[in-house]
Amino acid sequence: MLKHECQQVASQTLYETVAGRIAYLVEEGTLRPGERVPSIRSLSKQLGVSINTVKEAYSHLEDRRLIEARPQSGYYVRARLPDLPDEPVVDEPALRPTEVSLGKVYRMVMKDQLNPGLVPFGLAIPDPELLPIDKLNRMLSSASRRARTQAVSYALPPGSEKLRTQIARRALSCGCTFSPDEVLITSGCVEAVVLALRVLSRPGDTILVETPIYFNFLQQIEDLGLKTLEIPASSRDGISLDALGYALEHTQDRIAACLVISNFNNPLGGQVPDENKRRLVELLEQYQVPLIEDDIYGDLSFADKRPVVAKAYDRSGNVLLCSSFSKTLAPGYRVGWIAAGRYQEQIERAKMLANVATATPTQLAIAEFLSTGGYDHHLRTIRRVYARQVAQMADAIGRYFPVDTRVTRPLGGFILWVEMPQQISAMKLYEQARQVGITFAPGPLFSASGKYQNCIRLNAAFWRDEIDGAVATLGRLAQEQLR
Ligand SMILES: Cc1ncc(COP(=O)(O)O)c(C=O)c1O
Repeated sequence: MLKHECQQVASQTLYETVAGRIAYLVEEGTLRPGERVPSIRSLSKQLGVSINTVKEAYSHLEDRRLIEARPQSGYYVRARLPDLPDEPVVDEPALRPTEVSLGKVYRMVMKDQLNPGLVPFGLAIPDPELLPIDKLNRMLSSASRRARTQAVSYALPPGSEKLRTQIARRALSCGCTFSPDEVLITSGCVEAVVLALRVLSRPGDTILVETPIYFNFLQQIEDLGLKTLEIPASSRDGISLDALGYALEHTQDRIAACLVISNFNNPLGGQVPDENKRRLVELLEQYQVPLIEDDIYGDLSFADKRPVVAKAYDRSGNVLLCSSFSKTLAPGYRVGWIAAGRYQEQIERAKMLANVATATPTQLAIAEFLSTGGYDHHLRTIRRVYARQVAQMADAIGRYFPVDTRVTRPLGGFILWVEMPQQISAMKLYEQARQVGITFAPGPLFSASGKYQNCIRLNAAFWRDEIDGAVATLGRLAQEQLR
């Protein structure tokens, strides 16, 4: 039938006709951004054309940027905006560290998140509807019942052995071989990072951070009386190693640590390539600067296999790897962990001083879920949903925001970083959006030195077709600022 059709359109080759059909389905919205297009084999069977013809058609559609190949996963409809520039624009950081002061905006964004009347594009939290609530509830109750007195007692640092064993087993997929004794349980990932900062630094020290970076960390650094030195990062390569090398070589300040979100960074969504992870670890080791690595989004890779962590290349115990189950299972359970290498003992002491121990029942429930709850199956489901939602939201931004707006194409996680034309103020947009019931995270929060005035971060975890209108409103408000 397709061959017959083709004879009618004599000027078109067979592969162009196949490509035209898929393009039509995309343009009409039958196949939407983030959705998988038919596999080469099934389309070839369906249309009665050769595998090579479909391959040629897909390669043509890739050139037109309508679809994209994902390793080991097939072809997907692309979102419609260009990427942020791949490389950092500046390679040499300004060598003057900055004291952070964004407290007021930070508190406002946090409070807005608690307001159920606002569309929640603000905090980077997962959609609770996608979490295995019923299973977790059952496990919370059965594990606590079984543990009885132990469930109401302190799980003193390093924390529940059962949970540490599960975490050590899973670490294999991140490229690490830990024993349970090398893992310490914390109350969430933020506590893990803060314990690391506290152990490694003294007030007045400088922390090297990639920029932009998750705003909570900038607040923590401020609270500890530390300074930040911002090193440019890109969504493709992560922290710039050239800029980092330059800073390590030239700065006069005492550098206490370097802090990096290595996989699906918040907010850029990028992933440090493996080779760069290895070089990052070696570079910091050479200068004797510890690396605090946050891998909280690592399990939310859109590809079938999760990426390794920088810690996988650590030979001397200089990397403190931090993570939690807040993005994948239950942010409210407050269960995180740290594998702190040669600093483990100091971290254990700091944890005890900070709050004695992390709550026991939630540790037991997460341990149970990891051992018998089908965590991998759950991850496969939510990764697929987030990949689709992120692409659909990026597509909506493309439709509604001013031309010349750029948006990231994350490889995992659920957040998007949007760079609007220079004249647009993210803070003004934030105020206007609140008036009409929408919250997001304004770009200036992600830097201690006044960058990203025209950027915003949006959470796609709650994406539904019905909130397409909220993106349209943000786009309209942004357009108005240009007039
Ligand atoms: C990079 C990063 N680290 C840590 C956290 C918070 O982790 P937790 O809730 O486990 O403390 C977040 C939450 O947004 C985050 O984006």
